[in-house]
Amino acid sequence: MLEWFLSTIPIFKVVHIAALLIWCGGLLVLPLMLSQQTPAVSAQDYVTIRRMTHVIYTVCVTPAAVIAVIAGTWLIFMREVFVPWFYAKLAFVGLLVAVHAWLGHSLADSSEQPNEHRPASPVLLISAGLVPVLSILVLVLSKPDLTWIEFPEWLLAPRDGQLPFDVPSR
Ligand code: HEM
Repeated sequence: MLEWFLSTIPIFKVVHIAALLIWCGGLLVLPLMLSQQTPAVSAQDYVTIRRMTHVIYTVCVTPAAVIAVIAGTWLIFMREVFVPWFYAKLAFVGLLVAVHAWLGHSLADSSEQPNEHRPASPVLLISAGLVPVLSILVLVLSKPDLTWIEFPEWLLAPRDGQLPFDVPSR
């Protein structure tokens, strides 16, 4: 049973990589679309660009992010990657999620307050996305040996803390 489950690793990796291509690609393209939401474009183009930006974010990029994270989370246990380079990767994934949320916030502002809202510079948004994407790719593809990094003791051993409520014993 376990052997059969582990033989599906390539499928999980394909799903993971396909989903993150859409996720990361979207985070690079959407700032450009957002920057086109200016009074300089015609009213009809403005409506089309705004609607497409919204649809791409909600229907493609966000679901792809969720699928990439779910497939990646399964891969953690299947590949047993409990190693420092992977923890560093997760820190950059956190940064990528923050950029995703920043973009979503900017999109929502641009539709709710179209007159006051000025989208963040696309150069800034794209650079903010590229830093975690490139760092993650370097980490996963080179899998550097980061075991020389010393983690504090409290991160390495159980704390023997008690839950704030009684746990029924069998
Ligand atoms: C919460 C989010 C994520 C989790 C939990 C996760 C987890 C994983 C795991 C466990 C693997 C298998 C590693 C191995 O086989 O040695 C993997 C592979 C991979 N991940 Fe992620 N990942 C996440 C997000 C990302 C992102 C955002 C990117 C790119 C920007 C990315 C790029 C890759 C690539 C390229 C591989 C294939 C590496 C290889 O097979 O050598 N991952 N991921």
